[in-house]
This record gives sequence, C-alpha cells and structure tokens, in this order.
Amino acid sequence: VHIPLTFVLENLADHAHLGPTLARLHAAEWGHLYNGPGSTWNEELARQEFADMQREAIPMSILAIDPSTDALLGSISLIADDELHGFEHLTPWLASLFVLPEARGRGIGSALIEAVMDQAARVGSERVYLFTSGQQGYYEDRGWELIDTASAHGHAVSVMTKSCTPATR
Ligand SMILES: CC(C)(COP(=O)(O)OP(=O)(O)OC[C@H]1O[C@@H](n2cnc3c(N)ncnc32)[C@H](O)[C@@H]1OP(=O)(O)O)[C@@H](O)C(=O)NCCC(=O)NCCS
Repeated sequence: VHIPLTFVLENLADHAHLGPTLARLHAAEWGHLYNGPGSTWNEELARQEFADMQREAIPMSILAIDPSTDALLGSISLIADDELHGFEHLTPWLASLFVLPEARGRGIGSALIEAVMDQAARVGSERVYLFTSGQQGYYEDRGWELIDTASAHGHAVSVMTKSCTPATR
C-alpha cells in the first residue's frame, strides 16, 4: 500500500471525475444506516448528490488528495439540510466525513473539518451542525458540543454543533 506523506485539499467541483468513486465509498460506509422503511438512499443517489456539488456555495464537497498520485484520500461535505427529523430548522450541516482506512491518523479528518468550517464562515454561517452514530468522541476532542440525541432511520445519533466564526476556533 502506498502511504502518502502529504495531502492537499481540493474542491470536488474541480475534480468531478472522482464523484462516482466517492459515491461507491460512501454507499459502502453508510448505506446500512439508510436501509430502512421509506428510505431509498443508495450509490446512484449519492452519485447524483456529488454531481450537484458547488464550488463556493452550499452544498459543497471538499476532497483530500495525494498530490503525487492524485489518489483520493478522503472527503467531507457542507450541506443545507441533512434530513434529520425534528432538526430541519438548523443549518448548515457538516456531513459524510470519510478518510480512507490506509490514510487515517495523519490529520486528514481534522483538516477536512477545518476546511468546511472556513467555508461555512465564508458563506456567512455562525455555527455548523452534524449528527453521528459512533464518532461523538472524535468530534468532542475537536471542540464540538453535544446538543441533543435523535433517531436517524432507527439508529441512535448524537447531534452536535460548533461555532465556525474564526475568532472562536
Ligand atoms: C473518523 C475519521 C474521519 C477520522 O479520520 P482521520 O484522518 O484518521 O482523523 P485525524 O487524523 O484528524 O484524527 C485521528 C485521531 O482521532 C482518533 N479517533 C478516531 N476515531 C475516534 C473516536 N470515535 N473518538 C475519539 N477519537 C477518535 C484517532 O485515534 C486518532 O488519534 P491520534 O491522532 O491520537 O492517533 C476516519 O476514521 C473515518 O473515515 N472513519 C469512518 C467514517 C466515519 O466514522 N466518519 C465520521 C462519522 S460522522
């Protein structure tokens, strides 16, 4: 396995050919969470969502890329609505943070979060929201605060928030 020493952050809108790869990875990681009654999210829909991502506006996706091979290392999205029942009044949402297993533990996840917080601040947001079904500790270690618990497609999730205004980070 080639282990990269460095990574660069790029906008998905500038690397649109990676959309289908992202859709496959994300469907494999999170598909089970959405396989419930009344839910139809799958790789095909993920591909469509990635095709609709913007460059300097919400929704957007940011990629981590190995500059020596152009291989995808990870991604994150900033979206207006993450379809969490009861929380539709909150916006925007950090969503689908994913780092490839062989690239973990090198700060890529943290860098992707920081990039999304910068972008959220740039489009005028004061805080960002997320929900997670297993990584509450990861976000708490990075200054996120638990504000509620909820159920997403039958799975217990933690709803969290963090200010994205530069002075508070
Ligand atoms: C969570 C994830 C994005 C982290 O990516 P990463 O690039 O390894 O993150 P970083 O390098 O910034 O941070 C890694 C550190 O977080 C720690 N960590 C990972 N998961 C954690 C958790 N649930 N609770 C606390 N710490 C955690 C690691 O042990 C590591 O610690 P170290 O730096 O002391 O060795 C990656 O593991 C992943 O893609 N997981 C599968 C998808 C997922 O769970 N996404 C988030 C859910 S919303």
